[in-house]
Amino acid sequence: MNINQRLKGIWHGCDYNPDQWLDYPDVLEKDIAFMKKSGCNVMSIGIFAWTKLEPEEGVFDFEWLDGVINRLYENGIYTILATPSGGMPAWLAEKYPEVKRMHEDGLRNRFGNRHNPCYSSPVYRDKVRIINTKLAQRYSNHPGVLMWHISNEYNVDDCHCPLCCNNFRKWLEDKYKTIENLNEKWWNVFWSHTYQSFSQIEPPGEHGEVSSNPLKLEWLRFKNHMLKDFVENEVAAVKKVNPDIPVTTNFMRVWEIDYSELSKSIDVASWDNYPRWHSGDNEYPVAVETAMFHSLFNSLKKDKPFMMMESSPSATNWQQVSKLRCPGMHRLASLQAVAHGSDTVQYFQWRKSRGQSEQFHGAVVGHDNSEDTRVFKEVTEVGEELKKLEEVSGSLTKNEVAILFDYDSFWSLRIARGYRNKDADKGYLDTLLKNYGALWKLNIGCDFVFEKEDFSQYKVIIAPMLFMLKKGLKEKIEAYVENGGIFITTFCTGVVDEYGLSFFDKECYPLRKLLGVKAEETDSLYDGQCNSVEMFGATYQSEKYCELAYLEGAEVIGKYRRDFYKEMPAVTVNAYGKGKAYYIATDLMTDGYRKLYQEWFKDVISADKMMESPENVSVTMRYHSDKEYIFVMNFNNEKKRIDLPFDYEIMSGVLKDKKIDPYGVVVLRRRFL
Ligand code: GLA
Ligand code: ZN
Repeated sequence: MNINQRLKGIWHGCDYNPDQWLDYPDVLEKDIAFMKKSGCNVMSIGIFAWTKLEPEEGVFDFEWLDGVINRLYENGIYTILATPSGGMPAWLAEKYPEVKRMHEDGLRNRFGNRHNPCYSSPVYRDKVRIINTKLAQRYSNHPGVLMWHISNEYNVDDCHCPLCCNNFRKWLEDKYKTIENLNEKWWNVFWSHTYQSFSQIEPPGEHGEVSSNPLKLEWLRFKNHMLKDFVENEVAAVKKVNPDIPVTTNFMRVWEIDYSELSKSIDVASWDNYPRWHSGDNEYPVAVETAMFHSLFNSLKKDKPFMMMESSPSATNWQQVSKLRCPGMHRLASLQAVAHGSDTVQYFQWRKSRGQSEQFHGAVVGHDNSEDTRVFKEVTEVGEELKKLEEVSGSLTKNEVAILFDYDSFWSLRIARGYRNKDADKGYLDTLLKNYGALWKLNIGCDFVFEKEDFSQYKVIIAPMLFMLKKGLKEKIEAYVENGGIFITTFCTGVVDEYGLSFFDKECYPLRKLLGVKAEETDSLYDGQCNSVEMFGATYQSEKYCELAYLEGAEVIGKYRRDFYKEMPAVTVNAYGKGKAYYIATDLMTDGYRKLYQEWFKDVISADKMMESPENVSVTMRYHSDKEYIFVMNFNNEKKRIDLPFDYEIMSGVLKDKKIDPYGVVVLRRRFL
């Protein structure tokens, strides 16, 4: 399915801020000429243009925007129109202080930043609804407007204003009904934390460490709830005028937002991708991490492609070091997104601002106002190549393996005290990354799956560090395996219930029956300490965590080689119903996980979804019902030979004597005989 049927193909474009250039009358026409030349045909417009659109309360000026959208469209360039709530106008902040977030000491933000409104404020919501409605009335039937870019990079930073505090209390009361119930579920007898009424509850803050874990967890859940509600208010305003224009909002790599939930309020998932290429000895860590985040965002809407909404064609201005992309890297990074299911290559930004904090951020057009630059040329090459890949758009990744990403486990691990406190999330993301990396090295495409989704669409589900088992999840996993699914889990799994309370008495070790082991104790290792596991006739190193588990029916695959638990099981398998449940008691290095998955999946995954390739050459697929596209990406700074076990024709890129260039990409169409 295409993002919008009106424009097929892989979209190529940018965040474009013509509102910054209204005093430079030649710029728009020059931009249009350059856009055509670079093959950029989709522009996200108006993201921070609220003050230009509504210079005074209730006074609107759309003429400049009419001109821009019309001129672009006349030249074959489409608009993704933004709602401007990401940056509030000064008049709004001045007249209605409640729109500014409050710090815990009672002071409000000063005016002069962005992404900082109070989501509870009725005034802010109303002003946003009004401007969104006006924009929708004016533009949502414009043939050049393809979709809505709702606000920009929402966050859930704290607001301690009375409105937010009251909403929090109300939300808790709705959920827990009585304060006694809340006290019990939160184990509030601890350290005299017991409340006598909901009115006593204050959100956690930095002043004096607040030690209540459940309070921290519920505050985070509440902030996600408020954000979702705020987004829905924005979306409703534009959908009311024309429900047919798809909406998105650009996500990012933050841990506090449960995108699996937030994405339900929008039509298309999109995210902003800023990898730190060339930051290490080789590109593997960045390549695999970026691939993982593409897969995560691709997995939010499984029936359609996602969008890479932002990426820099050159350096950023906000990373520790503003590194350029070496020749070829821009193409590789752009096609990596497409390879993992994106139907867009969008940049921040089209044209560099002359001033303010982003004046040195990479852009397609620089301060020299010319197309005669290295970056412009590389962008133009990507534009030409995307045209050749037009038929790829709308195709899907269709993976057989998924990693269960559980925000509540992730959050609870961050909040919990114990295990390896030195890792902010106790190693959750890193463990996910190692698992993803193992699959990446085997060229096994991998989705992420979320707790509420249908598990049966996957042959294999890997659930690393599934710390929290919410109500019903244990039964859901058991049913999945019973019916033939392969379930793999690790240390630190099944420890607490949905409130964060430890399972107790007979409920303790909830997965012991499924796994056929009792995982009784967890040893956390200091940095530099390790253990090793003997399996498949070789030894594989592990680090960070070693669980001490006792067999209750499972078969041993690997044993510890060291420490007082030497010879105890480190990797096990249990037959359960028609399926199998594997347990990995220790945090292997990527190669250990890779070995396990290679052995375990060879009879499970379709043969052509598990392909060999040289180190750091990644192979991924996208599918239409009758077509298969293969992306071969070389993340090495040297040529690599690639042998593919099927017939193909080249759609783009060079494969000479079966060799792929340094940082090269080839896109192939599989030929079926
Ligand atoms: C974010 C924002 C953009 C811009 C870029 C710079 O992704 O959405 O407005 O600030 O960062 O990298
Ligand atoms: Zn507030």
